[in-house]
Amino acid sequence: MNAPQESPIGKSAENAKPQQMMSITRMKLITFVVCLLPLAWLCFLAWQDGLGANPIEYITRETGVWTLRLLLITLCITPLRKLTSWHALVRVRRMLGLFTFFYAVLHFLTYVWLDQFFDFTGIVMDVYKRPFITVGFAAFVLLLPLAVTSSNAMVRMLGGRRWQALHRTVYAIAILAVTHYLWLVKKDMTRPLIYAAIVLLLLAVRAWWREQERRAQLAGKYGMRVAPSTIPQVVKFFPKRPG
Ligand code: HEM
Repeated sequence: MNAPQESPIGKSAENAKPQQMMSITRMKLITFVVCLLPLAWLCFLAWQDGLGANPIEYITRETGVWTLRLLLITLCITPLRKLTSWHALVRVRRMLGLFTFFYAVLHFLTYVWLDQFFDFTGIVMDVYKRPFITVGFAAFVLLLPLAVTSSNAMVRMLGGRRWQALHRTVYAIAILAVTHYLWLVKKDMTRPLIYAAIVLLLLAVRAWWREQERRAQLAGKYGMRVAPSTIPQVVKFFPKRPG
């Protein structure tokens, strides 16, 4: 699962110089280890009997919040890369996306196994009756095809455009995930509201960039500067490329 931008696969690894390859490998290794830290911490707490009075609730919340954090970190990669021109960042995006899915699976399994004891009728009723579970479940289901199609082979099989269109659902997933959080919290809304604000900001940045790209494309196509209000008229006026 990647945030969709430009070439989904990126520059091929063979094109990178040996020194670049080393630093990319190191970056991937660090990302891998850092992404495993929340799980390692949970295991340590479980071993130390430190999961509090309600360990199942603790594990559900920790895995849930790490799913959301990793999802947002994955979505930050493209804006960060554009702002800093640090293009190597894109090399860890897929791993971050897959770790998002990994924590979502842990979160879902905690609920299905430890919370519901595989009572599938109860789970179906919960998904049907409790809106925060419904949206959480929807987010999880939408993550599945993104994880399945994250490999380079799947990008090639689907074709870049179709793959990007599919992976654009990651923004809908982010909205569902913060809605899940907003709806489950009963008292202090500060944390879910902060996550909601981050999602809104990321969506706004993306919409702004897309608009800039569209204007640049139009300006290039018609060889002129295009004011925002005139774009639809220009398109109508020149249905085909002029002269
Ligand atoms: C992408 C998918 C999902 C994300 C990002 C996500 C995220 C979260 C977050 C951030 C929390 C609150 C953590 C906290 O309180 O600090 C949470 C709690 C919870 N989630 Fe999810 N979740 C997802 C999917 C699901 C699914 C599929 C289910 C079950 C079908 C589920 C069930 C729950 C439950 C039962 C809680 C605890 C509610 C409580 O303590 O009252 N979540 N989740």
